[in-house]
Amino acid sequence: MANRLECIDAATDYCPCYLAELNECIVCSQLQGKNFCDCNWRGVCIYQEFVWAGYKAKATRSTIFSKVLKKEKINKEVIILTLKVPNKMARELNEPGSFVFLRGISSPSFFDTPMSVMFADEMEGIIKIAIQVNGPKTKLIQQSQGEEEVYLRGPYWNGLLGHRYIKGTHNSKALVVLRGIAQAPGVIVISKLINNKNNVIAIIDKGKVGVNFIGDYIKDFDITTVDTDLLSEEGQRILKELIKDKGITLVYSGGSDEQHVNILNYLELYNKEAYLAVSNNNTICCGEGICGSCEVQIGDQKVRMCKVQVDIRKALERKMLNG
Ligand code: FES
Repeated sequence: MANRLECIDAATDYCPCYLAELNECIVCSQLQGKNFCDCNWRGVCIYQEFVWAGYKAKATRSTIFSKVLKKEKINKEVIILTLKVPNKMARELNEPGSFVFLRGISSPSFFDTPMSVMFADEMEGIIKIAIQVNGPKTKLIQQSQGEEEVYLRGPYWNGLLGHRYIKGTHNSKALVVLRGIAQAPGVIVISKLINNKNNVIAIIDKGKVGVNFIGDYIKDFDITTVDTDLLSEEGQRILKELIKDKGITLVYSGGSDEQHVNILNYLELYNKEAYLAVSNNNTICCGEGICGSCEVQIGDQKVRMCKVQVDIRKALERKMLNG
């Protein structure tokens, strides 16, 4: 029997969505065309919300103009944008795994690029995004001169898998492992863990971008940071020793799938009880569960990774099997 899936948007302002209109809801069996109820109850009946909304998607994410307040060139590979957004959006984006779609105002809609949020200030109504310039879309954002605004669509939240573990870990000890551009979403993860009164150790590897660019954003947190090269013997030794600490109850891996698998292997060997949360590295295109570009096969189910929170171990097993 297929597992019940957990949608990141369930019970938010953006549920029910277009998928409900198409009888393709990820969670609600009624809105999958069945005539019985069978869902992961999250405190809200999606079917009832759909009926109340007049058999329509409740709210959709619109594209807004966002003013570029600052554009900092960190090195040849990385720029950090400070963007003005409505205060409500800044609040909604101050969550682990949050991301938005960005494009320059002179670019057509297929230039929309998903970008993780590194920092959000609700009072000021600003967000910060770190961009690794490595393709046509990001080059265009980097080269844009004097463009005072960008198109921005959001908020989205499925930039990481294992939300429940990050939100549910309190008064404990957590290890956060960040490499390359995946340092960026790690800042909000660390902030959330600190707010939950956890003792946090962060391993930071500058990776391919060649720079630790989050130092300023985490310097006020009471955490232990270790800078290392995770691909070196020394980096692996440090990682292994930290994972062996049974006091660690949660590990967050921000980096490549190979890094996730590396950490999972150490967890299986030395600390099976610890929870694992990881950055979601699947190809995101529409972000709405519509286009299918993020779809993966897990067991006997096809799963749209832009919306669904999956069992990380199962998702990584697939990667291990496929090499
Ligand atoms: S990105 Fe389009 S369905 Fe997930």
